[in-house]
Amino acid sequence: MQKLLPLFVVALGVFLADAATTSLDGIYSLVQRQIPQHENSFTFSLIAGGGDSFVISDSEGDSGGITVECTTVSACARGLYTYHFNTVTFDYTAAFWNFDQWELELDWLALRGVNLPLAWVGYEYILVQVFQEFGLTDADIASFLSGPAFQAWNRFGNIQGSWSGALPTQWINDQWALQQQIVQRMVELGMTPVLPAFTGFVPRAMSTLYPNASIVNGSQWEGFPSTLTYTTFLEPFDPLFTTMQKSFISKQQAAYGANVSHVYTLDQYNENDPYSGDVGYLANISAGTFASLQAADPEAVWMMQGWLFFASEAFWTTERIAAFLGAVPSNDSMIILDLYSEAAPQWQRTDSYYGKQWIWCELHDFGGNMGFEGNLPELVTGPIQALSNASSMRGMGLTPEGQEGNEIVYDILLDQAWSSTSIDIASYVEAWVARRYTVQDLPSAAQEAWTILSTTVYSNSDPNTQATIKSIFELAPDLSGLTDRTGHHCTEIPYDTNITIVPALQNLVQAATENPLLLSVPEFMYDVVDVTRQLLANRFIDVYNELVSTFYSTGVTAASVKNAGQPLLTILSDVDTLLWTNDNFLLSNWILGAINLSDNNGTYADYLEYNARNQITLWGPDGEINDYASKQWAGFVGTYYYDRWNMFITYLEDITQNGTAYNDTAIQTVMLNFGKEWDTQTYSLSATVSGDTMSIVDSLIQKWL
Ligand SMILES: *[C@@H]1O[C@H](CO)[C@@H](O)[C@H](O)[C@H]1NC(C)=O
Ligand SMILES: *[C@@H]1O[C@H](CO)[C@@H](O)[C@H](O)[C@H]1NC(C)=O
Ligand SMILES: *[C@@H]1O[C@H](CO)[C@@H](O)[C@H](O)[C@H]1NC(C)=O
Ligand SMILES: *[C@@H]1O[C@H](CO)[C@@H](O)[C@H](O)[C@H]1NC(C)=O
Ligand SMILES: *[C@@H]1O[C@H](CO)[C@@H](O)[C@H](O)[C@H]1NC(C)=O
Ligand SMILES: *[C@@H]1O[C@H](CO)[C@@H](O)[C@H](O)[C@H]1NC(C)=O
Ligand SMILES: *[C@@H]1O[C@H](CO)[C@@H](O)[C@H](O)[C@H]1NC(C)=O
Ligand SMILES: *[C@@H]1O[C@H](CO)[C@@H](O)[C@H](O)[C@H]1NC(C)=O
Ligand SMILES: *[C@@H]1O[C@H](CO)[C@@H](O)[C@H](O)[C@H]1NC(C)=O
Ligand SMILES: *[C@@H]1O[C@H](CO)[C@@H](O)[C@H](O)[C@H]1NC(C)=O
Ligand SMILES: *[C@@H]1O[C@H](CO)[C@@H](O)[C@H](O)[C@H]1NC(C)=O
Repeated sequence: MQKLLPLFVVALGVFLADAATTSLDGIYSLVQRQIPQHENSFTFSLIAGGGDSFVISDSEGDSGGITVECTTVSACARGLYTYHFNTVTFDYTAAFWNFDQWELELDWLALRGVNLPLAWVGYEYILVQVFQEFGLTDADIASFLSGPAFQAWNRFGNIQGSWSGALPTQWINDQWALQQQIVQRMVELGMTPVLPAFTGFVPRAMSTLYPNASIVNGSQWEGFPSTLTYTTFLEPFDPLFTTMQKSFISKQQAAYGANVSHVYTLDQYNENDPYSGDVGYLANISAGTFASLQAADPEAVWMMQGWLFFASEAFWTTERIAAFLGAVPSNDSMIILDLYSEAAPQWQRTDSYYGKQWIWCELHDFGGNMGFEGNLPELVTGPIQALSNASSMRGMGLTPEGQEGNEIVYDILLDQAWSSTSIDIASYVEAWVARRYTVQDLPSAAQEAWTILSTTVYSNSDPNTQATIKSIFELAPDLSGLTDRTGHHCTEIPYDTNITIVPALQNLVQAATENPLLLSVPEFMYDVVDVTRQLLANRFIDVYNELVSTFYSTGVTAASVKNAGQPLLTILSDVDTLLWTNDNFLLSNWILGAINLSDNNGTYADYLEYNARNQITLWGPDGEINDYASKQWAGFVGTYYYDRWNMFITYLEDITQNGTAYNDTAIQTVMLNFGKEWDTQTYSLSATVSGDTMSIVDSLIQKWL
């Protein structure tokens, strides 16, 4: 994700206003980190007054700089909260981040006014202590915790245990140390970290240790074998639950202080259906859960992701939701994240969550997928309409599963959070482009590129394709089922590439020709690569369809299959070559980031690397969620997707030659085994960019426009 520094003045008021702390040191440090050349240009002061607002003045004062005065308490449409993170973002994007990466992320959030970020890192450190206190052995605990790239789903109770070996103590300790830095920085920046709590998910051995405790199994998740799912769940109405909660929260308070935050993230039924659908049972669960939080922290507020109400809509009837939420006393005691508001809002059918506080969230990204998509008109109207219709809406936020590109859809929502009326998209985009490509005399072609994209690709109102769109080349090759997928594993392209991506790319190239200063603007170079990447990804669908129709044509020969297969391989190697030119698109960032955390211990490095590789490929020991978190990264397209398609095309050639029937099971097994083998490899490619972006883009335009 890119950072757009000029935006920072706009957002500073938010976190000052909401800061529990009244120290401005964190703000001055941020300015020093991000715009050291202007370190002395800004003066900040907290002023008294109603309203959550700020005043910027750049008149020549004594300091000759810019003065920002900020008040307290929200008076604008933004409401109380601006939220960031999905529990799974901690794995899809941040699993292997060090503090340098966290620092950049937190500055990016602060500059956009985020004041309520999730803070999940290092959760297991305290959890393990609690488990030990309650008599569980190291082996019991090891059989429960999941690997470094999969912790979010262990925390959600979707999976338990690991298919890559037990979670090393070193990981748990190092993540905890990292979390100390993260929480401290959040506080300095005036944010309220949303901290974890005890959820009820426990090692299986709890049933043996506490035979009378109310322990049930969660549901099966995503085809995982029973040893890795059906997560053991201590029901919250059992007194033991509250005892464990108090233990967890008191340890956490001892680490951070009691008042760093009273907001707790706690999800028990995310893609995990309750043991019973009885409304009395559901009420018992939520009442018990909240009572445990309150017993540990009298000011506790329970934050819950509302994804389940969409994902398990058949289970979560309004009657059940009403029972579950209604059993938690007082409306201020919960914050529900309406997780996918831009496409599948649940607040209407739940009558504004029956009075509980909730946040309008843009989910947008699934699995860190990178395809272009967005619905700017909805992002500037949806939250405003909700504010006027739903009395208990309290803020706006971002809940992307991963952070990979499409920055404009995140920026506009966080800016919309500052305005009580809908942002005008055309003028917003113009200003956004001018800030993004900060050069003198920005050519109008650069603006034109974004006018095209923002009014087409990023004005997608098709209800079936509201999510990052995956390229079919990221999916395991097949003769059917790849194209035109809708829903949140979408592959359908809801725009005409020839009148959107093509002219946008031509305009960007034109702009660089007119003003070569653009070539040294990182955001510009990122966009040139990204738009070209999208062009090739979309062209792949055409050549794939050609291959399939060739294979099924009468009189097909092995040679004609080979011929038809060649353009697919050419696109894949072209995409790889293109991506190698830009540091933001390298597989090495992901894998070497993981290895970086190993302290040069080879065994540990291999373990981390397997985790990194498995998440973006098979996602599970046997491809349980195959290709869900797929990426278009240099070194990955070239060694994984290329090889897999090559294998598939060769197979089609062979069976055409042999006159044998297509056997999907057979070829899928071959490719699965290839994936398993790839996941155990050791990174041996370059860690740095190569190739000149513009000359490569020029040649790809010749080929694929
Ligand atoms: C469990 O309950 C049974 C029957 O009420 C009782 O006899 C037994 O002592 C209890 N066991 C424990 C470990 O509390
Ligand atoms: C939970 O699942 C485990 C493993 O499949 C099984 O042995 C156990 O009996 C189940 N427990 C309950 C309470 O259903
Ligand atoms: C936390 O804040 C409460 C008031 O809200 C205060 O009574 C308490 O002393 C504070 N605790 C700590 C450890 O600062
Ligand atoms: C609710 O929990 C209590 C124990 O706290 C139990 O006695 C009661 O049967 C439960 N009710 C339902 C409907 O599950
Ligand atoms: C919560 O909000 C709902 C809807 O506004 C209202 O009917 C209910 O009385 C409120 N509950 C409490 C405890 O204030
Ligand atoms: C919100 O209310 C307005 C009228 O105030 C109505 O036109 C609009 O459809 C409502 N929007 C939603 C999303 O319910
Ligand atoms: C888009 O352009 C390509 C390349 O010029 C062409 O082959 C294709 O037919 C066009 N598609 C549409 C839908 O116009
Ligand atoms: C690995 O760590 C070093 C030192 O902290 C850092 O400079 C480098 O950027 C890291 N590499 C990756 C790929 O994260
Ligand atoms: C290296 O890592 C492995 C796996 O985490 C661990 O078992 C081993 O103790 C570590 N070796 C050293 C020397 O730290
Ligand atoms: C095709 O026939 C050759 C030679 O008999 C054999 O080696 C190969 O495995 C066959 N390929 C397939 C996909 O059936
Ligand atoms: C397809 O291949 C699988 C093994 O990969 C085999 O078990 C099955 O019998 C084959 N099906 C046919 C129809 O040949």
